[in-house]
Amino acid sequence: MKQEVISALSSTGLSKSEIESLVEVPKDENLGDYAFPTFALAKKLKKNPVEVAKDLAKNIKSNEFEKVEATGPYVNFFVSKKILAERTLPPIQFQGDKYGSSSLGRNKKIVIEMSSPNIAKPFGIGHLRSTIIGNSLAKIASFLGYTVTTINYLGDWGTPFGKLIAGYKELGNEKKFKKDPIKHLYDIYVEISKKEEYEKKGREWFKRLEQGDKEALRIWKLFKSVSLKEFDEIYKMLTVKFDVISGESNYNTKMDAVLEDLKKKKLLKESEGALIVDLEKYGLGVSLIQKSDGATLYVTRDLAAALDRKKEYGFDRMIYEVGAEQKLHFKQLFKILELLGYSWAQECVHVDHGLYLDSDGKKFSTRKGKTVFMKDILEETKELAREEIVKREKVPKNEREKRAAAIALAAIFYGDLKNNRVHDMIFDLERFLAFEGDTGPYLLYTYARAKSILSKPAKYQGNLDYTGKYSLDYDGVEKKLLVKLSRFPEIVVHAYNDLSPHIIANYAYELAQLFNEFYHSHPVIGSDNELFRLQLVFVSSQVLKNALSLLGIPVLEKM
Ligand code: ARG
Repeated sequence: MKQEVISALSSTGLSKSEIESLVEVPKDENLGDYAFPTFALAKKLKKNPVEVAKDLAKNIKSNEFEKVEATGPYVNFFVSKKILAERTLPPIQFQGDKYGSSSLGRNKKIVIEMSSPNIAKPFGIGHLRSTIIGNSLAKIASFLGYTVTTINYLGDWGTPFGKLIAGYKELGNEKKFKKDPIKHLYDIYVEISKKEEYEKKGREWFKRLEQGDKEALRIWKLFKSVSLKEFDEIYKMLTVKFDVISGESNYNTKMDAVLEDLKKKKLLKESEGALIVDLEKYGLGVSLIQKSDGATLYVTRDLAAALDRKKEYGFDRMIYEVGAEQKLHFKQLFKILELLGYSWAQECVHVDHGLYLDSDGKKFSTRKGKTVFMKDILEETKELAREEIVKREKVPKNEREKRAAAIALAAIFYGDLKNNRVHDMIFDLERFLAFEGDTGPYLLYTYARAKSILSKPAKYQGNLDYTGKYSLDYDGVEKKLLVKLSRFPEIVVHAYNDLSPHIIANYAYELAQLFNEFYHSHPVIGSDNELFRLQLVFVSSQVLKNALSLLGIPVLEKM
């Protein structure tokens, strides 16, 4: 319905996009469904904003609005019930799962790097945020017609692995490794972290690894294969997929080319035997490119990876979904690419996120001095969900398991995505799992409730041909719900422009609240307005489903 408001304002002489950015949704419903502040226009016209609002309101003659009113420096639009129903219901009914999608991104390619855990370590909670947010951004971008390639860029190269090889050679135990490889490697890692001597041994083993030493490679491959197996299980539980699994090790052989390029463009400097790029001028410190022993670094591999991706995917935009603690790293990386003369450095973005905090406000991953294992968290969440299901209803085991998995996923994903990603957030499973309040299970429950109404015998038989058959006899609560539904397409675009899934998450919650308000105060089946209300229930469930699916949360038809 926003489009109707925008066209009504075309007589102002402002451009469509100017108007679009100015039109707002008033907080107070008495001020209409949309409002247009006149300050900018008044300034242009050198007139008083209140006068401008009055004039505009008087001159907009359109049967698309019930009324158009000036209130102070605002023009308030009340959309007509007939138009609202006619323009909102059919698109949702006909487009179904595609409602809200568009071809905005047609012919545009986007690379989204996400998750990117480090091998030979448990998949920690630290990489969960990147996985969840990256997954949602990828879904939003695809929904808007972009061609998306998701890349999981594993941390599988660097001195830490030299260190772990050294530790494994000395402390490795085949039996323990067989039983739970990641746990065993983690124990070794904890052990060697306490000992100074492994620093040197680690550097030596990493050097051997970089030079292609057979024994070093054999052990490294072992680490990698057990890690991939473990990660795979977790991604399966999270229902997250990647188009490409890559990793830092892929770029080991491309270091010389990067060094050459940097040298040619006179960016490399020697410093105590090491090679650096000096970025002091830009307030970005110094970036270490090669250590004095010849070992390359994280940023060196990232440079090679970026060049390679540009060649391979020809992206129009590349998103790195990585924690805020790496802000400086990405600023340096993008700066160096720019200094190398790659104008597409402008198209690279670090989409950062804050930390998960424990309920006491401390960093979650160091709870009780231990790493929190993702697998345990997922199991724990599922168990809590199971308990909740059993409390409510007796269901067969396979149905119970299906529901527990879906509820656990909704709890964790929504618990994260409802927050603005740049903020730190408290990771509180009990709260995430509540069936009431601003939670994933509440949204799933709302969806299932709507579906259960639709499954009851009614005159509504799923017939989609409603054109011209809309009841106009609906009230304020129903209107609010319809207006909300009509906004979904704008919301998706907004979420993409801000690279902020929480815009969709918050929308889903507000929609569920409006739906529940309607449901509690309006009988559907058997009411005088049954057909219209069933339509409203159907489209509400559809839009809620679409919103959740953009967050990576599959719905349950029954709950
Ligand atoms: N593996 C890294 C870590 O856990 C994250 C990788 C981020 N991506 C990148 N291109 N540097 O810290």
